[in-house]
Amino acid sequence: MTLRLTALAALLATALPALADEINVYSHRQPELIQPLVDAFTAETGIAVNVAFIDKGMAERLVAEGDRSPADLVLTVDIARLMQIVEADVTQPVTSPVLDAAIPATLRDPAGHWFGLTTRARIVYASKDRVADGEVTSYEDLADPKWKGRICTRSGLSDYNVALTAAMITHHGEEATQTWLEGLKANLARKPEGGDRDQVKAIAAGECDIAIGNTYYIGQMLADPEQAPAAETVRILFPVFEGDGTHVNISGVAMTKSAPNHDAALKFMEWLASDEAQKIYAETNNEYPAKPGVERSALVAGWGDFTQDSKSLAEIAGFRPAAVKLVETVDFDG
Ligand SMILES: [Fe+2]
Repeated sequence: MTLRLTALAALLATALPALADEINVYSHRQPELIQPLVDAFTAETGIAVNVAFIDKGMAERLVAEGDRSPADLVLTVDIARLMQIVEADVTQPVTSPVLDAAIPATLRDPAGHWFGLTTRARIVYASKDRVADGEVTSYEDLADPKWKGRICTRSGLSDYNVALTAAMITHHGEEATQTWLEGLKANLARKPEGGDRDQVKAIAAGECDIAIGNTYYIGQMLADPEQAPAAETVRILFPVFEGDGTHVNISGVAMTKSAPNHDAALKFMEWLASDEAQKIYAETNNEYPAKPGVERSALVAGWGDFTQDSKSLAEIAGFRPAAVKLVETVDFDG
């Protein structure tokens, strides 16, 4: 009997699926941002990570591939893109005490469909010459007439600005947010155009004094000899929602519904939340580690400390449709 049980146990042990030796990642992020992570993970675990860079149509592709999709994980940026794949029903919830312990609740889906890995703050680029210390205080204050003709920004319908407007709704409701958008629009130096980097260039050119943008673009521009002179004319100031903190968005990860290599993929997800991976990932794009306490790069640390807004991205994401509607209602880009 004992012998039989032992034999059965041995049989079961061999029948248990071993951890897959490779996983497949669909990445919306550029390969050079992902490669250092992949290399470190493979060196530690022996699990190969095949990365397919997918610039557009992530959700559509996963829907079209359905159960036959080779993808285990999706890496992307912005809550808007994460919501797109969740709403397309191509993700699965992940339960992981490791991820829950590492990633703050405000930066992950309560249901486990997405997890933030790095954060970027949506802040103010301010002219070093024309804007005094302490002149920029809150997001609400950007609607004050004292800024008339002095603000630049990209389209109000860009994912980054929609998230900021959605965050404003979580704090003040739709009516007050509409008033805020109207005030902000009235203060613009020019119609919204370009990306965040173009706003830095506009400040350098004297077209405006402050602009709304993401932190990491300054790092990217400083590293580019052609754009560095413009970036040198601005500094980063961290506005807050009155009584709360600075708006952040995330780059994140989600597990696909089909995930053929579920366990190995989960191992990679959990590893991405480790101190080592957090440091590598945040540093490659001048972002902030999502996990509290992990060291920031010297450049990013040099921008100064700030308090993250306390509203959860899941709650903010719920107000995205309302935010889009308000931006259209006030004809923000018009
Ligand atoms: Fe960006």
